[in-house]
Amino acid sequence: MRRPTVKLRALERGDVDRLYRYANTARVAEHQVSFRLPTSRSDAKAFYERMRRSQTDRVFSVESSRGRYLGSVGLHDISWLDRTCEFGVVIADPRDWGRGYAAAAVRAGVAVAFDRLQLHRLEVPVLARNTVARSMYERLGFFPEGILRERRFFDGCYEDVVVLSLLSSERDD
Ligand SMILES: CC(C)(COP(=O)(O)OP(=O)(O)OC[C@H]1O[C@@H](n2cnc3c(N)ncnc32)[C@H](O)[C@@H]1OP(=O)(O)O)[C@@H](O)C(=O)NCCC(=O)NCCS
Repeated sequence: MRRPTVKLRALERGDVDRLYRYANTARVAEHQVSFRLPTSRSDAKAFYERMRRSQTDRVFSVESSRGRYLGSVGLHDISWLDRTCEFGVVIADPRDWGRGYAAAAVRAGVAVAFDRLQLHRLEVPVLARNTVARSMYERLGFFPEGILRERRFFDGCYEDVVVLSLLSSERDD
């Protein structure tokens, strides 16, 4: 797989409609924790406002080297004491999947987390059946720690969630 260049930039007001669109894209939403139900524009705007003010979340938009919007990388529930956070990535348009953008975005997000924010541990919850995301994180050095049984409820079913983590000492450039 080629390694495209991506850039992370701050989440902007202009991203609200993009968040709204991907939150309502079934193939994206089925894997999401935050935007799981039909999401309104005002929900997306409220999310943007909340993230902008938050001391414990950092959300970045991912762009291609030509400035095309691709998705987002989120660092959530940051503990400044333990230096941990929950980490996630979304590539918004399924037509962009399989081109190496998520792996590049995760690498960029890991660099922000460890270099800029000096975090120590990143934790990723992934649906057990999301084999693409699980193997991507493992390839990037994340360690599968365990299964949270029937942790998530979606569309009438309880589903297992796998937790993977990466420590700053394990980072693999
Ligand atoms: C999961 C997701 C982030 C992957 O994004 P992507 O841009 O397609 O991923 P990449 O192209 O960087 O590929 C990552 C790896 O998955 C593999 N992969 C991608 N699509 C695949 C497919 N359909 N089948 C099998 N493997 C696939 C790639 O070969 C690559 O593996 P490699 O690093 O060994 O070469 C994207 O599908 C998505 O946003 N899904 C919805 C949200 C989500 O699931 N987020 C993850 C939970 S945090």
